[in-house]
Amino acid sequence: MNADSVVKIAVSGAAGNIGYALIPLLASGYVFGDRPVELRLLEIPHALKALAGIRMELIDCAFPCLTDVICTTDPREAFENVDVIVLVGGFPRKQGMERKDLIEANTKIFTTMGRAINDVASTNVKVLVVANPANTNCLVALTEAASIPSKNFCALTYLDHQRAKAQVAIQLGVSTNRIKNVTIWGNHSNSQFPDALTDGYYLQDDGEKVPLASLLAHDLDWATADFVTTVQERGKHVIEVRGASSALSAAQASADCIKTWLVTGTQDGETVSMAVYNDEGYYGVQKGLVFSFPCECKDGDWYVKTGLSLSEFAMEKLVITEKELMEEREAAKDLLSKSARIRG
Ligand code: LMR
Repeated sequence: MNADSVVKIAVSGAAGNIGYALIPLLASGYVFGDRPVELRLLEIPHALKALAGIRMELIDCAFPCLTDVICTTDPREAFENVDVIVLVGGFPRKQGMERKDLIEANTKIFTTMGRAINDVASTNVKVLVVANPANTNCLVALTEAASIPSKNFCALTYLDHQRAKAQVAIQLGVSTNRIKNVTIWGNHSNSQFPDALTDGYYLQDDGEKVPLASLLAHDLDWATADFVTTVQERGKHVIEVRGASSALSAAQASADCIKTWLVTGTQDGETVSMAVYNDEGYYGVQKGLVFSFPCECKDGDWYVKTGLSLSEFAMEKLVITEKELMEEREAAKDLLSKSARIRG
């Protein structure tokens, strides 16, 4: 992306709870600094009136960098020549529904999204998938958008990453920004493996990186049990308590994911969790899945950090979440039209 040109950003599901919390972060300069921003807001016809209200509010915010806000129900209008697409709109999970129940409705939606991206987006576009089941929605979209490199896509596990950092920080009684390199492996679902021990560290004032494995050595029961389930179940727990799924934190994580991936990059060996297309078979995970790994970011690209030594316990956890993603892929494959091209 040219540093001076207008950043064009499309957001689907823009009038929903996550969209409502995300759009100001994109328009205010939080993500792209003082670069001018054009927003293309995509919604279903039913939500177009609410979207018009959000557009009015955006105008009333008088954001200095916001050059234009386009509201549309047409994905082709929304995605044409944009730099970034955030796919927030999907068939929502209702109470009592398992994530797999969502696959049918969402495969249809993400086939449409992927085809529109394929037809009108620039080959440099970067796509973040937020809607659940995020990994498999991302796989469907990137499969349909065969003309766009799969490296230009990722699904959001940054939210789980932040949740994991926060839980470790609370446990150790330290500030969240001192906790680095926790990893979310696998799916954005309760099969994921939140991992503080493999590469996690506490960053001291003097720059020394103290491994979380040593800081938590007397607390291994917590790090391998309570911590794991707390992060895995956090989304479900928020739904139970709030009566609606996470929106504020999902929007913040989406903004931070885009910022790290496309604007700041990561520094000094720091990693963030991103669910990316596994074309290399990283860590023995089956190729052709969108799987969350520890990633470094540089110049608008992500790179999976390789060479970490995983314990037997961790490997067992990876296999569980890999299996779920393979099942989701099979379900999506069955639903896709004959012209679809699920890779792998
Ligand atoms: C979350 O992690 O908060 C959501 O993905 C949960 C959900 O299924 O909506």
